[in-house]
Amino acid sequence: MWIFRVSLICSLLFVVFGSAFGFLWNGDTFRRKVSLELNPGLKPPSSLPPGAVLVHARGLGLNDTLHFLLCNHGAPALLLVHTNSTESAVRLDWPVFINRSSSGSLRVEPESSVTYSSALVFTRLWEYDDVNNTADPQKTAESSFYPPYELQNFIWSDLNSTVNQSDHVITLCGREKSESFLNGSLCLKFSVFESAGREQAWPSLLHNANSSQLRVWLEGVTPRGNDSRFALEFQSVGDSGFQGRVDVRSSIDDEYTPSIFKVSQWVSFPLNSSGAWGFSQWKPVAYRKPEPVFEDATPCRHSPLVSVSRVPPSALVRAYFRDDPQIHGLNISFGIDKDPVFYSDTRYVSWTVLMGMGEPPADAFSTLIIIIIAVGLGTPLAIIIVGGVFVWVRKRMTHGSIYEPIN
Ligand SMILES: *[C@@H]1O[C@H](CO)[C@@H](O)[C@H](O)[C@H]1NC(C)=O
Ligand SMILES: *[C@@H]1O[C@H](CO)[C@@H](O)[C@H](O)[C@H]1NC(C)=O
Ligand SMILES: *[C@@H]1O[C@H](CO)[C@@H](O)[C@H](O)[C@H]1NC(C)=O
Ligand SMILES: *[C@@H]1O[C@H](CO)[C@@H](O)[C@H](O)[C@H]1NC(C)=O
Ligand SMILES: *[C@@H]1O[C@H](CO)[C@@H](O)[C@H](O)[C@H]1NC(C)=O
Ligand SMILES: *[C@@H]1O[C@H](CO)[C@@H](O)[C@H](O)[C@H]1NC(C)=O
Ligand SMILES: *[C@@H]1O[C@H](CO)[C@@H](O)[C@H](O)[C@H]1NC(C)=O
Ligand SMILES: *[C@@H]1O[C@H](CO)[C@@H](O)[C@H](O)[C@H]1NC(C)=O
Ligand SMILES: *[C@@H]1O[C@H](CO)[C@@H](O)[C@H](O)[C@H]1NC(C)=O
Ligand SMILES: *[C@@H]1O[C@H](CO)[C@@H](O)[C@H](O)[C@H]1NC(C)=O
Ligand SMILES: *[C@@H]1O[C@H](CO)[C@@H](O)[C@H](O)[C@H]1NC(C)=O
Repeated sequence: MWIFRVSLICSLLFVVFGSAFGFLWNGDTFRRKVSLELNPGLKPPSSLPPGAVLVHARGLGLNDTLHFLLCNHGAPALLLVHTNSTESAVRLDWPVFINRSSSGSLRVEPESSVTYSSALVFTRLWEYDDVNNTADPQKTAESSFYPPYELQNFIWSDLNSTVNQSDHVITLCGREKSESFLNGSLCLKFSVFESAGREQAWPSLLHNANSSQLRVWLEGVTPRGNDSRFALEFQSVGDSGFQGRVDVRSSIDDEYTPSIFKVSQWVSFPLNSSGAWGFSQWKPVAYRKPEPVFEDATPCRHSPLVSVSRVPPSALVRAYFRDDPQIHGLNISFGIDKDPVFYSDTRYVSWTVLMGMGEPPADAFSTLIIIIIAVGLGTPLAIIIVGGVFVWVRKRMTHGSIYEPIN
């Protein structure tokens, strides 16, 4: 009986040390002080078109500041600017910015403190009739595509609430003028984070204080075909001297995103080094219900990166980037071949992307997995060790009893 007690104690020890190790391993304690403001410095008579807004999120570090700017004047875009100063500030020349006519109306000052900047722009929503059920825009004849919805032409609903400073979340919903959007909308939920963690809602991406998240969903849109599927086109704009690459990495456990073992990341790195300075990261999964269960997940795929020569029609990008930015684009398409569920079946699809600076967050073994490993390995190990000691002690005792009487 005591052998089991000892092995139980041993595995308990493994569990305690294992989980402590797990916490250390996942432990990213870096924090930023986050504050949000809307339309900084905008005063009448200048005003943005109805529904358009510029959100500025400032993430203050110990000796640096990370600025995130989200704006839906033109195609919706998220701009990240990192500075090595705690005093850096966003300056806008509003009349010029609103006009979208020339660059330089948005600056982060002092400009010498800017170390890295990059933007993500959602440009178009493609819809195609997937008669062959390939769920792959690249294998679909051009004639099956409907005219794309240009996100720069969307009308956004008025943001009628003040910013919630405690949860750092803003939701923007917009629609196209056409009949398909009578009951439909495309929404963006923007979140900024003070520290590392995960959102409860799938795909529960791991985030940190150097990243922000955009959840995009398309709800209630009347599809133009019986077998309609959608693809979202987005572009990345960056400083010259950087290049991009999309990697697909294997993820080690699916505890947070059931059935998905991959993570895709579009990293940006300087020409003479391979370390990432900025990234967009997503899991190749979309959800077909607002509150999904396992069956509502559908894989998604990305097309190869293409170089784009025209600056995307976003006020933010046109105002900030001056000399010859690098622009690349790709499409994210939702669904997989032979998938019997089309958009018309649920009229909903959502997809989530994380954008940030530095190396993209990577899943480590979670505490739960470490406990499972510790119990799995610890128990047999404990039995072997304790068993060995037991046998050795028994041997000593029998030897003793044989040789002792000779004296
Ligand atoms: C920023 O602060 C950290 C910790 O206080 C320090 O290690 C680092 O050298 C500082 N960086 C700069 C650029 O001053
Ligand atoms: C806006 O742009 C138009 C032409 O593109 C120009 O005529 C007008 O003066 C500009 N307005 C401002 C306030 O810059
Ligand atoms: C901030 O970055 C700029 C440009 O990279 C550099 O010239 C400057 O020395 C840096 N300042 C600090 C305090 O690190
Ligand atoms: C369906 O597949 C066939 C054969 O691969 C191809 O020739 C055709 O263009 C496809 N149709 C569409 C609409 O993609
Ligand atoms: C905005 O909020 C005010 C007061 O809360 C309300 O009267 C108004 O109808 C709202 N406007 C819209 C467009 O929701
Ligand atoms: C702000 O967000 C927090 C956390 O989600 C919530 O508890 C609070 O009610 C929100 N406040 C307002 C004014 O919406
Ligand atoms: C929009 O919703 C209303 C009520 O739910 C419905 O009667 C109408 O047919 C819908 N329109 C479209 C274009 O789906
Ligand atoms: C976030 O950025 C800060 C400042 O550049 C850096 O010290 C920290 O290591 C970064 N954290 C992660 C998880 O990359
Ligand atoms: C779409 O489905 C409806 C009803 O199932 C059918 O009447 C219609 O012909 C179909 N349209 C096409 C283009 O296949
Ligand atoms: C890249 O090259 C430039 C000049 O050639 C140099 O100043 C810079 O430090 C290099 N960066 C890295 C990360 O090696
Ligand atoms: C996205 O897909 C559409 C349709 O196949 C194509 O015309 C467009 O060029 C693609 N965009 C990018 C950035 O690859």
